[in-house]
Amino acid sequence: MGIMSLPWSLVLALTIAVVSAGDEAALLAFREQISDGGALASWNSSAGFCSWEGVTCSHWAPKRAVALRLDGRALVGALSPALGNLTFLRTLNLSFNWFHGEIPASLGRLRRLQRLDLRVNMLHGSIPDDIGSKFPMMKTLALGGNHFTGTIPSSISNISSLVALGLVQNGFSGHVPPTLGKMGALQYLNLADNKLEANDNKGWEFITSLANCSQLQKLILSNNSFGGQLPGSIVNLSTTLQQLYLDDTRISGSIPADIGNLVGLNVVLIANTSISGVIPDSIGKLENLIELGLYNNTLSGLVPSSLGNLSQLNRFYAYNNNLEGPIPASMGELKNLFVLDLSKNHQLNGSIPREIFKLSSLSWYLDLSYNSFSGPIPNDVGSLANLNILILAGNQLSGKIPDSIQNCIVLQWLSLDNNSFEGSIPQSLKNIKGLSILNLTMNKLSGDIPDALASIGNLQELYLAHNNLTGYSSCLDTLQEVQTKPQDIITKFNC
Ligand SMILES: *[C@@H]1O[C@H](CO)[C@@H](O)[C@H](O)[C@H]1NC(C)=O
Ligand SMILES: *[C@@H]1O[C@H](CO)[C@@H](O)[C@H](O)[C@H]1NC(C)=O
Ligand SMILES: *[C@@H]1O[C@H](CO)[C@@H](O)[C@H](O)[C@H]1NC(C)=O
Ligand SMILES: *[C@@H]1O[C@H](CO)[C@@H](O)[C@H](O)[C@H]1NC(C)=O
Ligand SMILES: *[C@@H]1O[C@H](CO)[C@@H](O)[C@H](O)[C@H]1NC(C)=O
Ligand SMILES: *[C@@H]1O[C@H](CO)[C@@H](O)[C@H](O)[C@H]1NC(C)=O
Ligand SMILES: *[C@@H]1O[C@H](CO)[C@@H](O)[C@H](O)[C@H]1NC(C)=O
Ligand SMILES: *[C@@H]1O[C@H](CO)[C@@H](O)[C@H](O)[C@H]1NC(C)=O
Ligand SMILES: *[C@@H]1O[C@H](CO)[C@@H](O)[C@H](O)[C@H]1NC(C)=O
Ligand SMILES: *[C@@H]1O[C@H](CO)[C@@H](O)[C@H](O)[C@H]1NC(C)=O
Ligand SMILES: *[C@@H]1O[C@H](CO)[C@@H](O)[C@H](O)[C@H]1NC(C)=O
Ligand SMILES: *[C@@H]1O[C@H](CO)[C@@H](O)[C@H](O)[C@H]1NC(C)=O
Repeated sequence: MGIMSLPWSLVLALTIAVVSAGDEAALLAFREQISDGGALASWNSSAGFCSWEGVTCSHWAPKRAVALRLDGRALVGALSPALGNLTFLRTLNLSFNWFHGEIPASLGRLRRLQRLDLRVNMLHGSIPDDIGSKFPMMKTLALGGNHFTGTIPSSISNISSLVALGLVQNGFSGHVPPTLGKMGALQYLNLADNKLEANDNKGWEFITSLANCSQLQKLILSNNSFGGQLPGSIVNLSTTLQQLYLDDTRISGSIPADIGNLVGLNVVLIANTSISGVIPDSIGKLENLIELGLYNNTLSGLVPSSLGNLSQLNRFYAYNNNLEGPIPASMGELKNLFVLDLSKNHQLNGSIPREIFKLSSLSWYLDLSYNSFSGPIPNDVGSLANLNILILAGNQLSGKIPDSIQNCIVLQWLSLDNNSFEGSIPQSLKNIKGLSILNLTMNKLSGDIPDALASIGNLQELYLAHNNLTGYSSCLDTLQEVQTKPQDIITKFNC
């Protein structure tokens, strides 16, 4: 009897048996090369492979493995070339394991693959040059947290279905392909923590190209060997862009004046780079911004008053720059701000606008230290009722420490050192029950050191040296750390 005369159903049944046996054999060959610590105990012959841990099969016959999800199972070993036999796989997730060695070339046979997640393993090798012709359906390619090296092959741009490309934390080097913009569906591109380069217009061409990705949401270029001028074409990226990370690079040049075009942004991190120039006024158009990190650059000029338009802003960091002039009063409009750090600009000056002290949303910290601010702390400081840390050290602030500071009821750390405060230390500080560090060193404070300080149960460190203080309570000896100059201590009281 020839095969042609077999009933159709029997042919189908035989086919299923053969093909399924192929998937089972491939899975067993995969397990052969790893130690699983018992995680794959269900992979035994008492049940069909479709019920094995991590295996998902197609709903319809022939039953084929369509997904293998073994993320975070502490698997150790090499990736078997037999994986390439699971030709119906759409999802392969082996992330967060201890796989080592290279990705077997046979994976290139998985033409139906849509999600390949090999993040956080110990894999090495490079991405094959022909990757662009292998995975016509690929949506997510996640290789982050391995030891991959080499360049990013330009053929990757041919995977027009790609939505997310994550190559973070590897050793990729060379230029980023200037053709990436061909991936019209791309939403997420994470190239952080590699050794990628760009030193001239040619190297930065990929940014111009990415302007064609009309759905781009996250662009993460942090911690690479990128240098040269930040390309102006960055302002032409899609307005769908939500997150832009350029930190920890040697990028120079200035922030383009039209950065305000990117109205979809909610996180911008241009920090620890060689970027200079001013903060453009147009930044005030980024009304969706929640986090703005501009620290550790060489930005100069004024803090633009348009920042006051960023009504969603939670965190603004611009420490370690060369910003100068006053803080614009408009910053008092930032009703959702919980961190403001403008420390170590050295040349920010004028009085600190009272509007800043009225920002009761400030909760984590306010750091304006090491600038040239002058004048008194206004009574409004008492509005900072949710603030944990207040650092105003290293300025030319003067006048009395206002009693109203007692209303900063959750302060844990108060540094007013290295200023010109005078008068006595307010007794009312005792009402800040959670205060644990108080630094008033290097001021012109006088009078007795209030006994009341000893009643602050949480006080652990008290720095009072270089003032003109007189009384000293021995009750304070219970503190872990008390620094006063001998000339500050004239009498000791009993508690
Ligand atoms: C994988 O497929 C190849 C050819 O298609 C075959 O020779 C090989 O035995 C298969 N490997 C396993 C483990 O099934
Ligand atoms: C085989 O797998 C089944 C689940 O599929 C499990 O209940 C059984 O304990 C396993 N047998 C062994 C010997 O591990
Ligand atoms: C793979 O598993 C990880 C960890 O469980 C999960 O976060 C990730 O979304 C999965 N990857 C894909 C592409 O589905
Ligand atoms: C991308 O695909 C096109 C058309 O198939 C092909 O001509 C080109 O060589 C491919 N590009 C790369 C870099 O592989
Ligand atoms: C722009 O994206 C479209 C798909 O959205 C693609 O067909 C086209 O090739 C891309 N153009 C460039 C110059 O990359
Ligand atoms: C930068 O990336 C390298 C390589 O991935 C990593 O070792 C290093 O910790 C990263 N540095 C920062 C500041 O994140
Ligand atoms: C942004 O795109 C517009 C329109 O395509 C173009 O005229 C302009 O030169 C681009 N700007 C930059 C800085 O590349
Ligand atoms: C700042 O960036 C440089 C690279 O330009 C890097 O070496 C350094 O580790 C970064 N610092 C931090 C704290 O990330
Ligand atoms: C700031 O830059 C200095 C030197 O350029 C570097 O040592 C330091 O780690 C950087 N700090 C941050 C927080 O990036
Ligand atoms: C800020 O908002 C005001 C009105 O609320 C508007 O007049 C001004 O143009 C805005 N500035 C910027 C830079 O967006
Ligand atoms: C206290 O203030 C002095 C003077 O500004 C400074 O040198 C010291 O580091 C400060 N100590 C703490 C713990 O803030
Ligand atoms: C220190 O305080 C005393 C009074 O308590 C005052 O007579 C003296 O002038 C002050 N010294 C300085 C340097 O302010």
